[in-house]
Amino acid sequence: MFRIIYNLDDKVPNFIRREQKILKHTFYYSNSIKPVLLNYTIMLNFELQNPVKIFFGKGEIAKLNTQIPKDANILVLYGGGSIKKNGIYEQVTAALKDYNYTEFGGIPANPEYEVLMDALAIIKSEKIDFLLAVGGGSVIDGTKFLASAALYEGDEPWDILDKGIRTEVGMPFGTVLTLPATGTEMNSGSVVSRRELGEKRGMGGPGLFPKFSILDPTVVASIPQRQLANGVTDAFTHVMEQYMTYPIGADLQDRFAESIMSSLVATAPKLMGDASDYTTSANFMWCCTMALNGLIQKGVPNDWAIHAIGHELTALYGIDHARTLAIIAPRHYHHFLDNKKEKLAQYGERVWNITEGSITERAKAAIAKTEAFFHSMDIPTRLSDYTDQYHGTAEKVSETLRERGWVALGEHKAVTPEAVRVIVEGSY
Ligand code: NZQ
Ligand code: ZN
Repeated sequence: MFRIIYNLDDKVPNFIRREQKILKHTFYYSNSIKPVLLNYTIMLNFELQNPVKIFFGKGEIAKLNTQIPKDANILVLYGGGSIKKNGIYEQVTAALKDYNYTEFGGIPANPEYEVLMDALAIIKSEKIDFLLAVGGGSVIDGTKFLASAALYEGDEPWDILDKGIRTEVGMPFGTVLTLPATGTEMNSGSVVSRRELGEKRGMGGPGLFPKFSILDPTVVASIPQRQLANGVTDAFTHVMEQYMTYPIGADLQDRFAESIMSSLVATAPKLMGDASDYTTSANFMWCCTMALNGLIQKGVPNDWAIHAIGHELTALYGIDHARTLAIIAPRHYHHFLDNKKEKLAQYGERVWNITEGSITERAKAAIAKTEAFFHSMDIPTRLSDYTDQYHGTAEKVSETLRERGWVALGEHKAVTPEAVRVIVEGSY
């Protein structure tokens, strides 16, 4: 067998050429007459810029006053009140004692558009010019929406989400992370829900990177078990979405991804056993941030169909974000086994030590290990574990994505409405 590398842009399938600017690809010749296209072996072109300044460690919240301009007029945003029970509120207000600030509490999990519109009114009436999010993904994402909406010149801020308007410049904001999970503290994405419409939509853009994020692992001690399990599951799935595609020869990205997954696998039982252990919570926190700060997704194909489908389950039933991923991921990987089996098998070997069997057998064993990992944290992986009203969900989700024009998701654009229907139905 020998290998020829062509510069054959015209022979690259449309979905790759359009999305990923492949310049050349590899055919393997064997004794067969026709060349067999095995995979694309070059790393994809990419740009990487992440301006978020991270403060990591015990006591770092006190540094807030080194990062916010002294003359800022601040809106401090938080959620349902956990920060007032675990000492984080006191640390934040102590650091802000020389500042002019207003508070806005009550941002719910899966940040709600209507509530955020109340905060937007305060930003305008109080002439706020700096936002400080103190919370988990929901508070930080809500703050990102506000950073965008505060400077948005259109009439209807919902358009930012509905029409996918990219935020080039937003109001400056910082974050104090209280719940490791989403990675939002170091990325420029946000997800906002609008319950009256049954919608959960994403937004983003370079104007939505936090100016700084403070990551103090001691905050993990007060997080309930359910949210700890959610955090591990969300971060783990983030890595899978950026990794479980097809081999492209990006060794470093693969090893980064595998090391985050292996660390989460090792950390999870310790975390569920004792969240107050500093080493454990520090590893958990940094894994979650690194899982979605843009680094591991560069130069490699990404999937993200599990998230697209999962968000619809939250919109329909209010199921925690991470749990929707645990419901969909195993079925998604089974459905696309042929497309993903090489990476599934590689993941199985490097993360779960699965070394026996064919590639397909190892890939299937890796999916089973993944589902068992979710179960080990008491995360049920069937839709019927969360709602009795699951009949018809597959058709609903498939139709919603179709209406939105999301008819070709995933790294191969193979996640069609019909595939979505089969995956969701298989998840009942
Ligand atoms: O609201 P409070 O009272 O603060 O309680 C929260 C909330 O009830 C509680 N909590 C947070 N920190 C705590 C704590 N309880 C005790 N001690 C602490 N230190 O935890 C509950 C859940 O919080 P939430 O912020 O909703 O969780 P998470 O961080 O998992 O965020 C989920 C949201 O992020 C979005 C999800 O879709 C969902 O809306 N995501 C955002 C992403 C992004 N921007 O990059 C990517 C993700 O894939 C995800 O879609
Ligand atoms: Zn997620």
